[in-house]
Amino acid sequence: MAAQIVATESTTVDLGPATALSCRECGHRVPLGPLFACEECFGPLEIAYDFSSYDTEELRKRIEAGPANIWRYAPLLPVPADVADKPNINPGWTKLVAADNLARELGVEAGKLFVKDDSGNPTHSFKDRVVAQAIEAARAFHFTTLSCSSTGNLAGAVGAAAARAGFRSCVFIPHDLEQGKVVMAAIYGGELVGIEGNYDDVNRFCSELIGDPAGEGWGFVNVNLRPYYAEGSKTLAYEICEQLGWRLPDQLVVPIASGSQLTKIDKGLQELIKLGLVEDKPYKIFGAQAEGCSPVSVAFKAGHDVVRPQKPNTIAKSLAIGNPADGPYVLDIARRTGGAVEDVNDEQVVDAIKLLARTEGIFAETAGGVTVGVTKKLIDSGLLDPTKTTVVLNTGDGLKTLDAVAGTGLTATIRPSLESFREAGLA
Ligand SMILES: Cc1ncc(COP(=O)(O)O)c(C=O)c1O
Ligand SMILES: [Zn+2]
Repeated sequence: MAAQIVATESTTVDLGPATALSCRECGHRVPLGPLFACEECFGPLEIAYDFSSYDTEELRKRIEAGPANIWRYAPLLPVPADVADKPNINPGWTKLVAADNLARELGVEAGKLFVKDDSGNPTHSFKDRVVAQAIEAARAFHFTTLSCSSTGNLAGAVGAAAARAGFRSCVFIPHDLEQGKVVMAAIYGGELVGIEGNYDDVNRFCSELIGDPAGEGWGFVNVNLRPYYAEGSKTLAYEICEQLGWRLPDQLVVPIASGSQLTKIDKGLQELIKLGLVEDKPYKIFGAQAEGCSPVSVAFKAGHDVVRPQKPNTIAKSLAIGNPADGPYVLDIARRTGGAVEDVNDEQVVDAIKLLARTEGIFAETAGGVTVGVTKKLIDSGLLDPTKTTVVLNTGDGLKTLDAVAGTGLTATIRPSLESFREAGLA
């Protein structure tokens, strides 16, 4: 099955069923390589596949017999067939939690609300999924240094994956991120550089570095390896459907920073339908942003096709991308599926983090607070149907954003005596 594709005159790559890069805008195709923009129209390049030889039932059995991580879906990803044998942090197959307590609080019908808890990945965010794909492309294209521009979680995921796979890593973040994110990014021994500016400044700097001799041999997972990286988010769609018994959910609520994750979840669902692995039926995708960085939500509500950049100011720093690359595609998907894009303010983010923790025992980072908060707002406004199967994504771990819930702590401090315990009113 593995296709041998000549990527450049000097490079032969084996990335399994991936056959080419295809422009999302004009469909122009080029061989697989470390490219991200169409030479004809500057549109984003995506992976094209050949799935034509797959038999639905054989594929389903092969997936179900696969490892309890994203590599069970290797036949649907741009990775070589022997990917599971390579040094990798093997993310995925995280829990789909039946969130009945949260459902009760939000007025959702019993048995209909689920939280896909991606804080359970090796570096505690969904970013391990995308980095796992990018690292296979980095190997195929003989890069020696792995890099990225990051709002925090991606930096940690790159650091860990590079350490395990034997790459050098040098990653770039805004200089003022949460301490939990900084430590998580630095602990794996790679280089971590803080840039004086916001994420959009960091990203611009990385684009310059790619074009400079100083960046030669560097694979930027979310820039020149972006087509491969982005495919990792499809595994969230695959897992959700498989965990629901090979069924599509009716509604999904997904956080948005660049919008890559949301667009690839949609791509993953479409692939499962085309492959016959799930029954075709309508589903709605809802996007979630923080009010302090809500360029996609603002455009959605105004009925615009163009996303006007914002200067972010929110505690949800992982989602603080003011100029989201995939913003217009998110708008398309929300409108095409009958979903919506909504935002919540920082106070609602904190309330939602506490609500999820108190009802389901899941401690989400601010991005999860955004998603749960938006879910509540969409139910209250009638846009999200509380009688339909709904999956809410928690994409990161609350231990990395402790500052957001500062003040949460001891109920009381007492002497080690029953008398003191009673005095504190705890008996
Ligand atoms: C925890 C978390 N959730 C969601 C996202 C959004 O990802 P995307 O840029 O693919 O929209 C990010 C991005 O950094 C993140 O860190
Ligand atoms: Zn094009």
